[in-house]
Amino acid sequence: MKNEELLKIAIEAKEKSYSPYSKFRVGAALLGKNGEVYTGTNVENASFGVTNCAERTAIFKAVSYGIREFEKIAISVDSENIGYPCGLCLQVMAEFCDDNFKIIVSNKFGEFKEVKLKYLLPSAFRKKELDSFIGG
Ligand code: THU
Repeated sequence: MKNEELLKIAIEAKEKSYSPYSKFRVGAALLGKNGEVYTGTNVENASFGVTNCAERTAIFKAVSYGIREFEKIAISVDSENIGYPCGLCLQVMAEFCDDNFKIIVSNKFGEFKEVKLKYLLPSAFRKKELDSFIGG
């Protein structure tokens, strides 16, 4: 699937954003290696810290369907600036995706670019660090 198509799905998903506090709508569309797309929005909460980002919503949704291998994710925000995933979302991506996982970031004008996970989260902490831990 082309980046443009995946981004279009993220833009549509953004319509379902639950963001009454920040009013900052975010939509995500995650392409599994199975060819299926899993969408997500940010889901805010009156207890602000409970908020879940769009990217994590999409990933958790897919994983809860038993899907753990992903090709790329597109993210749409309403901002004039390109919206990059937060650190928590990058860490969740690193759990399931390798360094070359593609992240399509965009702004409200639909301008986008593709970046790799390794550029946003170099030296990610992964399961292998725990597997190689011999002190415990
Ligand atoms: N947000 C996302 O959904 N994804 C990100 O990567 C950054 C932030 C949401 C969380 C919150 O609902 C709103 O944007 C403002 O931070």
